[in-house]
Amino acid sequence: MKITVIGAGKYGSTLVEKIARADYADEVVMLDVVEGLPQGLALDMNQARPIERYVTPVTGTNDYRDTAGSDVVVVTAGKPRKPGMSRMDLINDNAQIVGGVAREIAQSSPDAVVIVVSNPLDEMTALFQQVSAFPHQRVMGQAGMLDTARFQDKVAAAAGTSPLSVEAITLGSHGDTMVPVPSKVTVDGKPLGEVLDQATIDEIVDATRNGGAEVVALLKTGSAYFAPASAAARMVESVAKDQGGVMPTCAWVTGEYGIRDVYLGVPTRLSRAGVDEIVEIDLTEAELTDLRQAAEAVRSKQADVQGLA
Ligand code: LAC
Repeated sequence: MKITVIGAGKYGSTLVEKIARADYADEVVMLDVVEGLPQGLALDMNQARPIERYVTPVTGTNDYRDTAGSDVVVVTAGKPRKPGMSRMDLINDNAQIVGGVAREIAQSSPDAVVIVVSNPLDEMTALFQQVSAFPHQRVMGQAGMLDTARFQDKVAAAAGTSPLSVEAITLGSHGDTMVPVPSKVTVDGKPLGEVLDQATIDEIVDATRNGGAEVVALLKTGSAYFAPASAAARMVESVAKDQGGVMPTCAWVTGEYGIRDVYLGVPTRLSRAGVDEIVEIDLTEAELTDLRQAAEAVRSKQADVQGLA
């Protein structure tokens, strides 16, 4: 099992360390355009292994030949937001970067399952698929795992309980039309409406939609990477180990939820083949309307995104 992460920034390097430490891959490759950066980080990570008790080697490189034949590729390359920016403000710069990565990966790892995390997420996922011409099933984006974790953490804080006792899901786009799904939230097994009042739930839904910007505003340079890397690592594991885990994913929708031919955050089953299945869960009418609006909001930008690369 060979796993490649493109980009050795905070997100990429944190993700590589999490994957290596989980110790199921034969090799993790970290590629960046900056000379010495991935090599230096790889050396440092590898030297932690005798202490941390794992063996998976990390290879740092600037050369796509070292990524050849990867089973799973995660694309973190691109610029992060600065305070006050929306994810969509990154589209021109990151389309160039992600388009270039897609051309390289299509050559060097033609059978890979690809997880995109570069922003704007839904558009960069669509762009990678268009440029690589990989089957839609093998190209997906990470957003819903992160947005769901933020939703869970905020619900737990408001309810005064453990983040581990909150079940939740977040669908839609990784942007203004994100769709946290309160009807599916349980806290210690109880429906959310029995635990928090409606005004608090509405505040948490808004705060979840703004969860990324909240971190950017505090950091001032760069965006979140610990929780995002945890989210991507979980998806990589489900694919690499063929676990069939169901998780919210930016996936190509083919009629489910009455939506077709667009990349959108939906529940999916992830296995070695990529997105095995889009799972249809019961949503309220209002949640379904929001999900369909999210699809229309991202559809036009996705349709012509290849033109930017
Ligand atoms: C976030 C960025 C990574 O939501 O999209 O933090």
